[in-house]
Amino acid sequence: MKKKSVIVGCTSGVGRALVDNLFEAGHDLFLVGRQMNDLDEIRKSFLPAKLEKQKVTLFCADLEQIDAGCFFRKAIDELGQIDNLFFDSRILFDRKDFQRLEVSEINKLVWSNFLGHIHILQAFYDYIKSANHEINIVGISSAACMRPRNQNTIYAASKRAFEFYLNGLAQDFSESRVRIQLYRLGFIRTRMSKSAKSVIPFASAEETSKMIFDNLGSNIQLRYYPKFWFLISIIYSCIPRFIFSKMKRRTHETK
Ligand SMILES: NC(=O)c1ccc[n+]([C@@H]2O[C@H](COP(=O)([O-])OP(=O)(O)OC[C@H]3O[C@@H](n4cnc5c(N)ncnc54)[C@H](OP(=O)(O)O)[C@@H]3O)[C@@H](O)[C@H]2O)c1
Repeated sequence: MKKKSVIVGCTSGVGRALVDNLFEAGHDLFLVGRQMNDLDEIRKSFLPAKLEKQKVTLFCADLEQIDAGCFFRKAIDELGQIDNLFFDSRILFDRKDFQRLEVSEINKLVWSNFLGHIHILQAFYDYIKSANHEINIVGISSAACMRPRNQNTIYAASKRAFEFYLNGLAQDFSESRVRIQLYRLGFIRTRMSKSAKSVIPFASAEETSKMIFDNLGSNIQLRYYPKFWFLISIIYSCIPRFIFSKMKRRTHETK
């Protein structure tokens, strides 16, 4: 039977590449993005002959103002059944944290990386709980949440909070046919990191989405990608506090 997937944060990077994987595999799609023209561009990129056989619904919404009930009803009306829910969206204000963030930016970080996702999942909860078929919920998180640092702290805390929520949900759904997977991504070459340089290699958005797609339905609960980020996270966690405290990023306020 044809699979039906909802993708939140699909207009760029990993989410955009994932849309191609899912469409190629014959899924009906419910695509969520902030700009209708970006969503339209995605639909236009598909062959018209394929669009006759596969449904692609565009849902324009900003997670900061999401009406989760309306989102849920529209997704069910359009797809009939939901098999996969992907939460990929993110906002990141690079090199800005603590005193340099505006209140509106703090709200954006928390809504786009955490609150918007849980509002949607709360709206889907009864449906997921009573479903008799297999449902996959995939949360895209970040290696940034392995240990708090003085950079991107609110971003990382929001990601970590979403992980925490999904882990609670996994316990709640442990006797059902729901699979919850979490990916902690390392450096992925996307629009945010176009010109970023690092001795640690970047993976591409396409490699990353292919890995997520290939693992759909497997028993993975938490995976680092690229995999060597698992090792980095262990090393990072073991650094004694007196050394770690000297590793902070220097902003113009702390120089
Ligand atoms: N790239 C990396 O190096 C890296 C590293 C670690 C973790 N990750 C994680 O991997 C995932 C994908 O990253 P990426 O680099 O591919 O992201 P990206 O290119 O920045 O794309 C983020 C997506 O989220 C959407 N989005 C952001 N705020 C939204 C809101 N308020 N409402 C609705 N949609 C919203 C964006 O829509 P617009 O197009 O409208 O902005 C875009 O489609 C994210 O969860 C990120 O945290 C990435």
